[in-house]
Order: sequence, then structure tokens, then C-alpha cells
Amino acid sequence: MSIVVTARDLARYYTVSRGAFSGHATLKALDGASFSIERGKTLAVVGESGCGKSTLARLITMIETPTAGSLNIAGQEIVGASPAALRALRSRVQIVFQNPYGSLNPRQKIGHALEEPLLVNTTMSAKERSEKARAMMASVGLRPEHYDRYPHMFSGGQRQRIAIARALMLDPELLVLDEPVSALDVSIQAQVLNLLADLQERLNLAYLFISHDLSVVRHIADDVMVMYLGRAVEQGTRAQIFDNPQHPYTKALLSATPQPDPERKRERIVLTGELPSPLKPPSGCTFHPRCPWAFEPCPRINPALLAHDGSLVACHAVNPPEPSMKAA
Ligand SMILES: Nc1ncnc2c1ncn2[C@@H]1O[C@H](COP(=O)(O)OP(=O)(O)OP(=O)(O)O)[C@@H](O)[C@H]1O
Ligand code: SF4
Ligand SMILES: [Mg+2]
Repeated sequence: MSIVVTARDLARYYTVSRGAFSGHATLKALDGASFSIERGKTLAVVGESGCGKSTLARLITMIETPTAGSLNIAGQEIVGASPAALRALRSRVQIVFQNPYGSLNPRQKIGHALEEPLLVNTTMSAKERSEKARAMMASVGLRPEHYDRYPHMFSGGQRQRIAIARALMLDPELLVLDEPVSALDVSIQAQVLNLLADLQERLNLAYLFISHDLSVVRHIADDVMVMYLGRAVEQGTRAQIFDNPQHPYTKALLSATPQPDPERKRERIVLTGELPSPLKPPSGCTFHPRCPWAFEPCPRINPALLAHDGSLVACHAVNPPEPSMKAA
């Protein structure tokens, strides 16, 4: 077993101006995530817009530093690490975004775009760089003649293959995939997901796979973390999350996805109400204004993420609070 990344109570807060007369407020974009990912495994992070998924991605890729908590990548603690140590670690974690067009230079041929990380980070010769780029293109299903083409000459699915190839040029151990198929047609989504699964097996890669859609991660995830307003509300293996979801928010997300086996009955929970502003989160359990199960302690006490029936769940209905915490 080889763990690539371990996060403990990882948090990122932003100070946000509320206008000239209202001063500043703290926005808890990520408020205490804990997980590990092994080589060859995928942790999927799922939740609605604004729940902190991309913030987590920026911390894991070391684009931003955590406000609190610890983050260990490839055996090294990154909180407090020297700039030189961070630079060395950065090549081991790469990211693929939803829209690869934004990260590709429209005037740069694809071959050169793939070689750029090698030019910047290695001492490889031009011939070695070109050979590696061509081999990587073949690994992601691009043809040799694509080497001399420009980004606008490719379809969305092909451009995502290019982004994946570029992310792999420095032989990373961990890929952060931030909504990698969300902009693609469903048929193309499946092709890119199959490619990612194939690359993971061949290269023993760890994936942090971010999506707002649970059905997208059904086949690729080993573990799933469901997030709501900056916090994990349920964490477990793929089988636990899909076959035995416990948190009402997880059940609601599943209710919104197609059921692969119509014979199986699943409790349906339809989400009502607006997603609250993360600048003014509800008290207690932040899900309580939308929760069909909400009861007395929910607006008062924020439920801890506790083990229950094989998963970790943050819900008073699943893990009742201690009697001493009940209202007087
Ligand atoms: N640099 C920043 N300054 C202030 N607030 C920020 C900053 N970056 C993110 N936020 C806020 O933090 C929260 C989490 O944002 P984040 O981008 O991580 O969400 P997300 O889950 O990736 O959403 P989406 O599904 O829309 O991509 C949001 O409320 C967002 O507005
Ligand atoms: S703690 Fe209460 S409000 Fe929160 S999810 Fe559980 S039942 Fe619903
Ligand atoms: Mg995002």
C-alpha cells in the first residue's frame, strides 16, 4: 500500500469584502477535510456548486496554501515546507480542468504544448522531448499527425485528451481532475472516463476526481466524499455510498441520478430550497433548512463526521447526539 496524499482537517478560508460600509467577512470555502489516497486508487469528491471542490483542488495541487490542517504529499508535509521542497513536489501532482481550452495556448502546436513541461522541468534533449510527447499522444488515443496541429483543430473530447497527456508528461503520482468530463457530451464522457481508468491502471496513478454529478463517478471511484458548504457530510467506499447511502444529502444527490437497477428500491429525497450563501451558512447542521429529516438539535448543533455502518456520516438522525447535548 502506498499512500500518495493524506489530508487532515484541511481548511481554506477567504476574507471577503462586504462593501464599503459592511467590513470584511470570513468565507469558509473548505472547513476541515480529511482523507488519504493510495496509488492506483480514486477518491471522488462530489457536491453542488460552491461546496469547496475546486478550493480543495487548489490546496492539493499546492496552488494555494491551507489556512489550517495538515497536508502530506508523497511522504512530505507541505504546510511549512520550503519553496524548494514545494517546487520539487509540484511536479508530482498535476491538474486537469473542465475546460482545457483555457490552459492551451491557441498559437502553440500540440506537440510543443506537451513538451513544454519537459523543457521547463527537465534536462531532456529536444529529441527525447519529442519522443516522449509522441509516445504520450499515442497513450491517450491521439494520432501522430496531431503533433503539428493547433488546439482549435480538435473536438472537446480530443482537447481533454491533450490536457490529460500534458498533465502526465512529468510522470506525476497524483492527478487532480476538476470536473474533467462535465463539458463533454455523454458519449464522449464515457470515452474519456474509460481512458482515465486505463491510464490509472497502466501508470498506477492516484486520482482526486471532482464532480458535481454522482452518476459520473459511479464507475471510476474507489472512495467517495460528499461535500456540502465546505464540509464532508458522508465519506465511504463506492459500494457504501451507492448501495447504502446514509446522509439525506447523499440520498438527495442519488435521487437526482438515473437508477442503474430499476428493480432496487431507493429512498427518494428531492432537494428543495436554495443553496445557502457560504458567507452566511445556516447554524448547526448547515443542511438543516433543506433537510426533510431535520429535528430539534439540527439548527443548534453541527453534527460531527462519525463512523456508522461502514461509512463516516455527519447527521444527528444517523448518529444521535450525546444526551448532554440535548436542549434543556
Ligand atoms: N479566492 C476566493 N476568494 C473568495 N471566495 C472564494 C475564492 N475562491 C473560492 N471562493 C468561494 O469559496 C466557495 C467554494 O468555491 P469553489 O470554487 O471551491 O466551489 P466548487 O465546489 O468548485 O464550485 P463549482 O462546482 O461551481 O466549481 C464559493 O463560495 C466561492 O465563491
Ligand atoms: S443533522 Fe439534522 S438537518 Fe442535518 S442532515 Fe441530519 S437530520 Fe438533516
Ligand atoms: Mg469548481
